[in-house]
Amino acid sequence: MSVRKDSVELGVTNLGFRDADGDASDTISEAESVEKQESVGVKMDPEEKYNQMKPYAGMPKEVLLLYSSQARYRVPREVLFWLMVCVTLALVAVTITLIALSPRCLSWWQASPVYQVYPRSFKDSDGDGVGDLKGIMEKLDHFQYLNIKSVWISPFYRSPMKDFGYDVEDFRDIDPLFGTMQDFEELLAAMHDRGLKLIMDFIPNHTSDRHRWFNLSRIRDPHYDDYYVWVDCDPNGPKPNNWVSIFGNSSWTYDEVRGQCYLHQFLKEQPDLNFRNPNVVQEIIDIIHFWLKKGVDGFRMDAVKHILEAAHLRDEPQVDPNKPPELVTTEWDLHSDYTTSQVGLHDLLREFRAVLDTYSREPSKYRFMVTESYDYDEVEKTMMYYSTHLVRESDFPFNFYLLDLPHNASGVWAKHLVHIWMGNMPRGEWPNWVVGNHDRHRIGSSAGPAYVRVINMLLLTLPGTPTTYYGEEIGMENINVTQSEIQDPAGKYNTSASRDPERSPMQWNGDMNAGFNNKTNITWLPVHPDYETVNVEVQMKDSGSVLSQYRFLSNLRESELALHRGWFCYIHADANVFSYLRELDGLNRAYLMVLNFGKESAITDLSSIPELPDQLMVLLSTNQVNDGKVYQKSQIQTEAGEGLVIQYSTSRRYNPNHPEECYVSEKACYLPTINILYKC
Ligand code: GLC
Ligand code: MG
Repeated sequence: MSVRKDSVELGVTNLGFRDADGDASDTISEAESVEKQESVGVKMDPEEKYNQMKPYAGMPKEVLLLYSSQARYRVPREVLFWLMVCVTLALVAVTITLIALSPRCLSWWQASPVYQVYPRSFKDSDGDGVGDLKGIMEKLDHFQYLNIKSVWISPFYRSPMKDFGYDVEDFRDIDPLFGTMQDFEELLAAMHDRGLKLIMDFIPNHTSDRHRWFNLSRIRDPHYDDYYVWVDCDPNGPKPNNWVSIFGNSSWTYDEVRGQCYLHQFLKEQPDLNFRNPNVVQEIIDIIHFWLKKGVDGFRMDAVKHILEAAHLRDEPQVDPNKPPELVTTEWDLHSDYTTSQVGLHDLLREFRAVLDTYSREPSKYRFMVTESYDYDEVEKTMMYYSTHLVRESDFPFNFYLLDLPHNASGVWAKHLVHIWMGNMPRGEWPNWVVGNHDRHRIGSSAGPAYVRVINMLLLTLPGTPTTYYGEEIGMENINVTQSEIQDPAGKYNTSASRDPERSPMQWNGDMNAGFNNKTNITWLPVHPDYETVNVEVQMKDSGSVLSQYRFLSNLRESELALHRGWFCYIHADANVFSYLRELDGLNRAYLMVLNFGKESAITDLSSIPELPDQLMVLLSTNQVNDGKVYQKSQIQTEAGEGLVIQYSTSRRYNPNHPEECYVSEKACYLPTINILYKC
């Protein structure tokens, strides 16, 4: 082994490279070298010696350690170390502060409108005249075109179709009319691939009379004996009490097999489940698990106020106490004190909700719940379905008040209906608005076609989640259904209550059957005769169409902070016009809506509002020729049925000076310098 004393002393030769000669035995550690020097009697301080050479690649550990303890290496290293510690701590602190200051992100059910598909009427892929799951699959582009991310599909469970799917024979199966379980799974996967969420209809209150449980209950199978509400009654005698079905007449029907009466708050083919039986509750919970495991994103809970009935079965008080009892046949004749909104109802819904929540834990897998309950002038009952900070229930109960708009169309009435919700909604909750569904006449027909656009404009510029019933985005109207064509059981009882008019096939194009079905000439309900002009294809080509305006507003709602999470403030209401603004603290761009629901054209004078600039430019008018028009704020003109979205810029906020006129679900402010939102 050679000794490299020379090179150590000179401090110039890199020993590591000498090994490249191939002589492994040439390798020497610095430590050995030092030992050698000392053994030949040269006394040197090792530190001093190493000061004379440079570190080299491949130096052994011992040498490395000697170098690394030298001050010129050690000090920078320690400085760097502490710097890293400080930077890391600072980053953690900044992150925590940002998280603490950031308002919650909107969840998917808040971020986009909910679109309701009535599957019988949306798109028929196989030509049997009834829409189906494959048909929906063919039309996913439509949702994306409208910037819609949440789709609620009315029931497609196996069903005898007495109430078109709201009478469920098997909660775990798909009706062959709509397709197969595989079709469902493919639809769900395709929707998820496109970032679309699927909300299922869920019907806890009743089953079909063909459901296995009912068959077993009729024969008094011990386990199923009280799955339904059975009461002794005489087949030819009086009913157990005066309760009536929503579809009319007594809600009690005698069953020959069991020899008792059973309760049905809807059709006699829809017996009410007995939720006082814990096994029934468990059955429903199991079904919720079944669909959540398949990956559905949420449920629309049907007819929830009917879930429980008073156990005492007393007669309900008549609205008109003098009416002869035999004429008491509709829900409007009775105060439904014992058949709706009973104590215990919310506990059940909260139990269902808790199941959803166990599936919400995965990131971006939030499961949504909306409840259906018409409480009319008892709005406080509806509000009870909202979750609170302590107990979770609905994300929101459906808000049906705008469905009343046509009955008294005016600016004051529109404000009144909006205020029913905003004035009663618990603080911090998220509003929502429904202007059409499969149970109510199309708003284009009840308000008149001239008001369709302004109603869509209202829907998409109010705070909260808008719900759009299929076809509202193109302004579809009711069809006329003759007596012999009536399909709806409610219509068979009372023609004027028929829901067929609003369930006609979706109008996709000007081809046969409006493109709903292009294989045969059958459609389960007639197609509206206006389909050649009122259809998706034609309206996509027209920038001023109902569809294009819907799409514009849906995009605007998503892109503009003020519209999807800003303040909502009432500005003005009169016989024609309802006006409100949307603004966000810190953001100069705000929106003023001037909507004319009345019968006459109007000039609205907003000159008394200093927060508005003097000149206001129309971003979108339902009357396309007025796009871009500039109005003095003292003279904003609208025709009957015209709505304006005005975008303006201001540094003066309206909400601080009018707290009683303004609402916000969760306050957030904008910091323009660094372009962030923060809690304020
Ligand atoms: C809900 C549905 C309606 C159905 C009823 C009975 O109100 O929206 O269509 O007939 O429940 O299930
Ligand atoms: Mg079909």
